[in-house]
Parts: sequence; structure tokens; C-alpha cells
Amino acid sequence: MLTHDAALAWLARWDRQQAGYLPDREERFTALIDAMEVLDRPDPLVIDLGCGPGSLSARLVERLPKARVIAVDADPLLLGLGRAAYPHLTFVAADLRTPGWTATLGLDRPADAAVSTTALHWISPPDLRAMYCELASVLRPGGLLLNGDHLDSDDVTPGLARLERAIHDTQTERVFAGDHPEDWRAWWDAVAADPDLSALNAERTTAGADHRGSESNLLSHHVTALREAGFSETGTLWQRGNNRLLCAIR
Ligand SMILES: C[S@@+](CC[C@H](N)C(=O)[O-])C[C@H]1O[C@@H](n2cnc3c(N)ncnc32)[C@H](O)[C@@H]1O
Repeated sequence: MLTHDAALAWLARWDRQQAGYLPDREERFTALIDAMEVLDRPDPLVIDLGCGPGSLSARLVERLPKARVIAVDADPLLLGLGRAAYPHLTFVAADLRTPGWTATLGLDRPADAAVSTTALHWISPPDLRAMYCELASVLRPGGLLLNGDHLDSDDVTPGLARLERAIHDTQTERVFAGDHPEDWRAWWDAVAADPDLSALNAERTTAGADHRGSESNLLSHHVTALREAGFSETGTLWQRGNNRLLCAIR
């Protein structure tokens, strides 16, 4: 059986694994929550898109205890870890590529914000357009989309895009050259070997949650899709290399 403490230990290991690829992960979480803090209400209703085991949601609620977060993901194992580690959060199983996904969220009013970290690059540009359109229909006017991810600009400013990627790659190489953190594959292999996670693992296989990432993650795809979905302003709130926090106002 998966206990609360065991889930917390798995999540600490998840954080170390993710930070290997994203040395600025905590700084980016902080920049995102800073934006939520200055939004015009202390008790925002927030949707966390591709929440995984709830890393961002948990940090958000820790800093803004009156916030109500609905954390959405398609992976039963990561959701199971999140539910066991953070019983105070609301997790919903949904695939953001499936039309009607917002109907599963149980929203009782328009949301004040949708947030996401290291997740939307898994979604292809056509699915992303549909996802943002549906999202816009449940966000209040003036609500925010805050997306922290690697976002490239090769189609508009290729020289800058190369520079931004090189900054990120150098930073990551430095991390992996030091005290080598566990990588993504090794983390999943370790999860698969834990008998306490076997039921969740089995669900994962049948749910087909082992998504393949989109080949590129262009900033322009997001900006165009957000504009088409009715968001009025878009811009970068924080950046290190190609790692950005994209903000859009509904
Ligand atoms: C690298 S993890 C990031 C998790 C978390 N946001 C964090 O920062 O630690 C990417 C997450 O996106 C989720 N994801 C990918 N495609 C998805 C989809 N179509 N619908 C819902 N979740 C998806 C994956 O299941 C995974 O949990």
C-alpha cells in the first residue's frame, strides 16, 4: 500500500529528477506564484494543467493558502502519488487533448487562472489550439494563463533561439557533470520496480499515459493559439535561456 510518507519520498525524488533538467525550476515556480499573488483576489480558483504529482499546485497553495487549485493530469500514477502526498489538493484525471475536458473539473465559477509547468510541450500545435480555446471558455475576463516551459523562437529569431538553447544546454550539462542526478528513465524504472506502486503502474499502461512529446515547442505557436482563443495580451514574465514563463491575459 502506498503511504503518505512513501508518496512524499517519491515526490522528493521526482523534484530532484526534474531539477536535473531544469536547474531554475524552483525560481520559475516562484516567478509564477509571484504573478498569482498580485492577481486581484487572495482566494483565486486555479487550474493546474498537466499537474503531474502536484509539484506546482502544492507550492501555490503553500504560499497562497486561500487559493483553490484543481490539478489536472492524464497519468494515473503521477495522480496517485499526488493524491497520497497532498490530500488537501483536488486532482482530476483528464486528457487535455480530449474535447470536453473542462466539464470534468467541477468548476462552480469561472477560474481566475490556469497555470502549467513543463507539460504543454507534450501537446501538438492543433491539440494546443483546441485546448486553449476550451480553456478560454472557463476563464474569467482578466484571468491569466501562466505557462512555464521551454519555448523556442527558431521561426522568428533563429540566432537568439540558438543562443537561448545553448544557455540552457550548458546549464544542464553542468548539472549532469556534477553529482549526476537521476534521469527521467531511471525514475520511471524505479517506480516500475516498487511493488507498492504496481496497481497504479498497471492503470498507467491501460490509460496510455506514456505520451510522446511534441517535436518542437515554438513560442509563436502558443502566442497565435492564445490570440485565436481570445486572450488579449501575451508576453514573457521570466526567462533563463529558452526556459520561459509565458503569460496571457484572457
Ligand atoms: C514533466 S511532467 C510535469 C509535471 C508538473 N507540472 C511539474 O512541473 O513537475 C509533464 C506532465 O504533463 C502531463 N501530460 C502530458 N500530456 C498530457 C495531456 N494530454 N493531458 C494531461 N496531462 C498531460 C504528463 O502526464 C505529466 O504529468
